[in-house]
Amino acid sequence: MLAHSAPQTLSITRPDDWHLHVRDGAALQTVVPHTAAQFARALIMPNLKPPVTSTAQALAYGERIRAAATVAGYSTFEPLMTLYLTDHLPPDEILRAKDAGIVGVKLYPAGATTNSDAGVTDMRKTYSTLEAMQRANMPLLVHGEVTSPDIDLFDREAVFIDTQLIPLRRHFPALKVVFEHITTREAAQYVQSAQGAIAASITAHHLLYNRNAIFTGGIRPHYYCLPVLKREIHRQALVDAATGGSPRFFLGTDSAPHATQLKEHASGCAGCYTAHAAMELYASAFEAAQALDKLEAFASFHGPDFYDLPRNTGQITLRRESWTPPQSYPFADTSLKPLGGGEVLHWRMA
Ligand code: DOR
Ligand code: ZN
Repeated sequence: MLAHSAPQTLSITRPDDWHLHVRDGAALQTVVPHTAAQFARALIMPNLKPPVTSTAQALAYGERIRAAATVAGYSTFEPLMTLYLTDHLPPDEILRAKDAGIVGVKLYPAGATTNSDAGVTDMRKTYSTLEAMQRANMPLLVHGEVTSPDIDLFDREAVFIDTQLIPLRRHFPALKVVFEHITTREAAQYVQSAQGAIAASITAHHLLYNRNAIFTGGIRPHYYCLPVLKREIHRQALVDAATGGSPRFFLGTDSAPHATQLKEHASGCAGCYTAHAAMELYASAFEAAQALDKLEAFASFHGPDFYDLPRNTGQITLRRESWTPPQSYPFADTSLKPLGGGEVLHWRMA
């Protein structure tokens, strides 16, 4: 029955990815074309080594990404660039960044995740810069986890809301905030009901999986990311948020490539690579919630509306078709294993 009534194709306005890691150098040649094949724009995370802390660095990095897209035939792909907030990012850099079209400034609490050592050690050290951001209408993009070792890893996002985010937003009520890659019911509820300009991005993997995925039949490092996958009740809350139609929730893959040997390691890196099939994965999650009709607004409208950017005009089409992404892609001089590689997907980009 379902097979006959279920739609066979889905055409939507071309989407954007509001949270993406592409790394640098030769790695760009693999990962940028995957994203550019699906998305018109992607918001590029600045957690390189060393981090992207100046407008000049961000612009140069953006040019390298554009070049990698162009070589692969995607010359209209637009990387949207961000700066990395440190304890010492000067307030006047915010004005330069705004003038140059930098789209946001990323807060990594020091030690929270990959390449966050240069992140913020104490929010008060950033207040003059946040003040400049509030005045310039420059969004703050937040990795929302506390880092103290006495807080359980699975509670770090919820504790961050109470101890960091609420006080911060009280101090800077007009600062635009994106709570990035939310993973908990608490975060979804907070974003849904908070006052002022706040939104959240949600990854495909947090819509599709709960924390059992990391431990099924043995430890599965390719399902390890930060913030880590949570319990099923949280996954369900994220699905409700993503499919509920609220303009405060939008697509951000957090696709985060790492070389295979650094994932399959005694101390494996955090990050799930999903750019190879991002829209297919989101379509699966929305279809499972019987909400395919809500995918377009989540993927293509809510993000640009929040960032005050125009919506895209082109379209993409997803077709119902079973296919199997490869287990591995070449990645600079090594390899990269995509999430769910070698497993059947039921939607495919036309
Ligand atoms: O899982 C993650 N990977 N979470 C992050 O916050 C960073 C990212 C990365 O850069 O690999
Ligand atoms: Zn990320």
